Amino acid sequence: MIEKSNRATLRDASGVASIGSAGLLLESSARMPLYRQLYEQLRAAILDGRLEPGAKLPSTRILAEELAVARNTVMGAYDQLLAEGYLEGAVGSGTYVTKDLPDKILQAALPKRSTPSSGNPSRLSKRGQVLACNPIGVRHEGPPRAFRPGIPAVNEFPFGVWNRLMMKHWRRQPVDLLPYTTPGGYRPLREAIAHYVAGVRAVKCDAEQIVIVSGAQQALDLASRMLLDPGEEAWMEDPGYGGARAALLAAGVKPVAVPVDEAGLDIVAGQRLSPKARLAYVTPSHQYPTGVVMTLARRLELLRWAENSRSWILEDDYDSEYRYASRPVASLQGLDTSNCVIYCGTFSKVLFPSLRLGYVIVPPQLVDAFGRTKAVIDRHSPTVEQAVLAEFIAEGHMARHVRRMRMLYLERQNTLLDALRRELRGAVEVRSHEAGMHILAWLAKGKSDSVVARRARELGVEAPALTTYRAKPGGRGGLVLGYAAYSEQEIRSGVKKLAAAME
Ligand SMILES: Cc1ncc(COP(=O)(O)O)c(C=O)c1O
Repeated sequence: MIEKSNRATLRDASGVASIGSAGLLLESSARMPLYRQLYEQLRAAILDGRLEPGAKLPSTRILAEELAVARNTVMGAYDQLLAEGYLEGAVGSGTYVTKDLPDKILQAALPKRSTPSSGNPSRLSKRGQVLACNPIGVRHEGPPRAFRPGIPAVNEFPFGVWNRLMMKHWRRQPVDLLPYTTPGGYRPLREAIAHYVAGVRAVKCDAEQIVIVSGAQQALDLASRMLLDPGEEAWMEDPGYGGARAALLAAGVKPVAVPVDEAGLDIVAGQRLSPKARLAYVTPSHQYPTGVVMTLARRLELLRWAENSRSWILEDDYDSEYRYASRPVASLQGLDTSNCVIYCGTFSKVLFPSLRLGYVIVPPQLVDAFGRTKAVIDRHSPTVEQAVLAEFIAEGHMARHVRRMRMLYLERQNTLLDALRRELRGAVEVRSHEAGMHILAWLAKGKSDSVVARRARELGVEAPALTTYRAKPGGRGGLVLGYAAYSEQEIRSGVKKLAAAME
């Protein structure tokens, strides 16, 4: 590893930035992956000016040698920085600090210098440091634009109905809903959810087993903290959902990246890579972000593994409402006979993300523990919103809205697939599109998705690179393209820009 250095200049005689003097210090024993440490440190050096705009970075080979790490580690960090616009150029043909870093990025970094804890990460606890460098808090900049994934068509929300239900509650001066209440949530909402998931997802539960949470993210956080001890291992889909990975890390758990194949999480690989894992995080209805639907055989194999190894399954059913081809496969929770599945659902995709309401369905033996822990975090979720939502479901508005959105999203998906076929003529491959609100467009082997994603962003299109969802760099590139929130015109003009970015 390179020693820390106080040298001010960061250029050697050849004009290549002397990264060593940027004070890079990678710790192989740290919980954060090496490529992520390198990414964080290079980003910090760019933001505070130690690496100047236009500075040429050493090749991945040279920096890897300097740091005594695998070349893939350096490529992973460079790819991420390229994807986020901090670097420009292509890995392999010269990589530079972006000349015109948007003021927004630089100014966002400035106030940090004057905060008391800046430049002194040791002022944070170890847990705090892990939390502070999680990637999910910085994703959503500006209003959504094609093809940012994970956003529903919020302009299609039935505002009138919601408004009527909200007014109805406030008009009657709901003093019964205003004091503190049970952490598990508003009883009629839990009953409405129990009924709803039994019908659409074959989930088997009593209303008591449901804890209302502030979105799936809180369910992932609760489950990680309640079920595993620091240092224990959990299987994490790779590529996979950063929010789940962040929740595991925050709980001190070691996420072990387990590959996903065309049938879902590769359980044989999981057993080889982490035989002692205590939990598996999965998105079986629609793997995030590849879109693979876990086969029934694989579901049964996963349940067998959990039962035999006395481990937990964390089932994240984030967008299962949107299936276009065949009937949904039964949820893992519905197939579970040994009470080992924790099921997370969210209203972020069926209604709107800022509602911050979701639910976790736990086996009977965990009900009390989850409720009490929810109380430690935030007592309970807002009751009036829960009451409105309960009526919204009970009166059939949610089912109607989902039906309408399913048709709209299918139409938008067809538009996107058609535009990709016309404009990109075979340059991308879409394997699964039977469900959800996004597709994964695989690039030709060897084509860098980070570079395409960066060029696309410069042209005004968001097309997150598959690389940014991977725990380890490498593997075939792809672009994650959300379509649910974008009009036909936005989709068609977005694909034209994507085509330009691919040239
Ligand atoms: C895989 C996955 N799980 C869960 C969520 C939803 O999280 P929340 O309910 O916290 O909004 C998302 C949102 O993008 C997601 O992609």
